[in-house]
Amino acid sequence: MTQAIIIDTDPGQDDALAILLALAAPKVLDVRAIVAVAGNVPLPLTQLNARRLVDLSGRRDVPVYAGCAAPMERPLITAENVHGHTGVDGYDWPDTQTPLQDQGGVDFLIEALLAAGEREITLCTLGPLTNIAMALLKEPRCARGINEIVMMGGGCFEGGNTTPAAEFNILVDPHAADIVFKSSLSLTLIPLDLTHKALATPARIDRIAALGNETGKACAGMLRYFNRHDVEKYGSEGAPLHDPCVIAYLMQPDMFGGKTVNVEIETASPLTMGMTVMDWWRVTDRAPNCTVMNTIDADGYFDLLSDHLARLP
Ligand code: BDR
Ligand code: CA
Repeated sequence: MTQAIIIDTDPGQDDALAILLALAAPKVLDVRAIVAVAGNVPLPLTQLNARRLVDLSGRRDVPVYAGCAAPMERPLITAENVHGHTGVDGYDWPDTQTPLQDQGGVDFLIEALLAAGEREITLCTLGPLTNIAMALLKEPRCARGINEIVMMGGGCFEGGNTTPAAEFNILVDPHAADIVFKSSLSLTLIPLDLTHKALATPARIDRIAALGNETGKACAGMLRYFNRHDVEKYGSEGAPLHDPCVIAYLMQPDMFGGKTVNVEIETASPLTMGMTVMDWWRVTDRAPNCTVMNTIDADGYFDLLSDHLARLP
């Protein structure tokens, strides 16, 4: 049986690999749509990049929508320093063939979730949570169609990657994250504590480069570009490959471990804005609201990625 998913994303090289992994697994994941949000780069580029990835995968049956161009209350923060000016630097992208859908991404999410059966669709979020929060605000009844939200974002013991306290996706739109974490929906979080164990080392990238297909070439190029910033920042062997962990978790949950705890989002303090405050040791009586994953079989993860990227053109 396949799991119906909608991918909400701000591509980004790591988003790109996540999207390709999902599109390469049609027997496991039924990707209903990709909805772009502003994040790593502005919305005109994230929606363009999503369409570039659909083209590359040969899965032009998957529609692409553009959601929100700005966070709910704060000005947009982007990350060209990490991802380059296009967001997906590292590969020479041809002109796009896949059109952008006319309907706005938030309206699409509402319509798709209202039309779905109870808990039919899993939302995979790889960027700021603006589109999801806006859909829940605009039409609360759409929550009924959501099975689970699996999100990349936040950090506990690893702290933040954009400020000392905050991870990029949550920092960009903490108010949206606050709505999602208070939603009572079934939530799974893939934070930095996990993704910092999933490093795109040179050997792992070489394996993807050697796949021999165009997808392998594009992914290796993007990963080599992505590595240059993080290797210097962390002094690690490779960049944390964040977003594909969300898709891999849905495909092979036994590779992951974690714990269900209370997570709340800081939306007031200038010092710790966007922090995911996790009650890891259950030192409060705040109700657990999120399953936070913090371990991964990294070799298994890169095996899964390579095996699936090999199936694409
Ligand atoms: C997250 O921020 C973005 O730069 C990446 O695409 C990932 O979703 C990591 O903090
Ligand atoms: Ca992302």
